[in-house]
Amino acid sequence: MAQVVLENLLKVYPEKDGAGVKAVNGIGLTIQDREFMVLVGPSGCGKSTTLRMIAGLEEISGGTVAIDGRVVNDVPPKDRDIAMVFQNYALYPHMTVYENLAFGLKLRKMPRAEIDARVREAAALLGLEDFLQRRPKALSGGQRQRVAVGRAIVRQPKVFLFDEPLSNLDAKMRATTRAEISKLHARLGATMIYVTHDQVEAMTMGDRICVMRGGDIMQVAEPLTLYHQPANLFVAGFIGSPPMNFFRGTLHRRDGRLVFTEADGSASALALPLDDTLAARAAAYVDRPVILGLRPEDIHDSLTLAASAPDPALTADVKIEISELMGAETYLHLTTASATPFIARVRATHRFEPGQRIKVAFDLARAHLFDPATEKAV
Ligand SMILES: Nc1ncnc2c1ncn2[C@@H]1O[C@H](COP(=O)(O)OP(=O)(O)OP(=O)(O)O)[C@@H](O)[C@H]1O
Ligand SMILES: [Mg+2]
Repeated sequence: MAQVVLENLLKVYPEKDGAGVKAVNGIGLTIQDREFMVLVGPSGCGKSTTLRMIAGLEEISGGTVAIDGRVVNDVPPKDRDIAMVFQNYALYPHMTVYENLAFGLKLRKMPRAEIDARVREAAALLGLEDFLQRRPKALSGGQRQRVAVGRAIVRQPKVFLFDEPLSNLDAKMRATTRAEISKLHARLGATMIYVTHDQVEAMTMGDRICVMRGGDIMQVAEPLTLYHQPANLFVAGFIGSPPMNFFRGTLHRRDGRLVFTEADGSASALALPLDDTLAARAAAYVDRPVILGLRPEDIHDSLTLAASAPDPALTADVKIEISELMGAETYLHLTTASATPFIARVRATHRFEPGQRIKVAFDLARAHLFDPATEKAV
């Protein structure tokens, strides 16, 4: 059992002159026993600082970290029963893989037979048996990364902490190692807290994801909840690639329907009637500015349209600026008649040319609305 509870956790890095750098703004987060929690957010948002406070590598300026119901603020790192895997692996270059794996246990004066058993078990789990006598410099990046994970496994900690452990690997290796860590989590049944700035890693690995910005938590939820019900503009724009499109405009009542009209207000501006569910939620925003969010996959091109015969009110003539062929799909970079840029993600069955004008349909049943002042989802 290892639940990790952060309460009002605060970190202020002292500065020579000035109030100091506030890196973590008093956050609250509960990581459940055996949960895989991902902390994700842009560079500098406080992910590593949070993880390092849990590990005991960074002094806590305020609030508490509790592991298994025990506040550990003043417990030294080695007594917290956690193990951390760093981005740079931090392997000892002069030691073999075996010695690297055994080192932490030797320091703890564990009997040699037990050390050997644990090292061999971890090596088997990670497919490192054939490399035990090699030094780190004779390993590939992916193998070094596995040794770093192995060093955490042999400790049999209550909680594993990972700080961007895959960022030194190439794209293919990242994808396989990502899957390996997920499998490892399933097999060990341990609590894991994993820091990354990569939203794909967050979405594929996390039981839950905690999205951070500027030292604050923006939303904590399961991956699909974050994707389909982002709590605010930041999460909506951060999760998903290509990102969600945002259109600024106003809601008006017209012919009994609630219509979103693009900000520029000209005759050619987008005017899209809301779907009933969204309209019901947005009643308080009539005649007020809103931001309409729509993911690239919810905007359909003319070829898809031919089959589905959409409501003409939800279509618009747009211009192709760039067409990016991705293989299975194409990202169309488009502009509306009033020059608002947006992206549609369509099937790659057709070759689109820059400058070409096409008709697209907006699936407003999947749209999101945000309050431009608070940036919260409506
Ligand atoms: N030792 C330090 N002294 C002063 N400020 C620091 C120190 N370490 C980090 N910071 C600041 O604290 C903030 C959070 O840093 P942190 O390393 O936690 O970010 P991060 O989310 O891990 O970013 P990245 O994705 O780049 O690793 C940043 O603004 C950073 O500049
Ligand atoms: Mg970091």
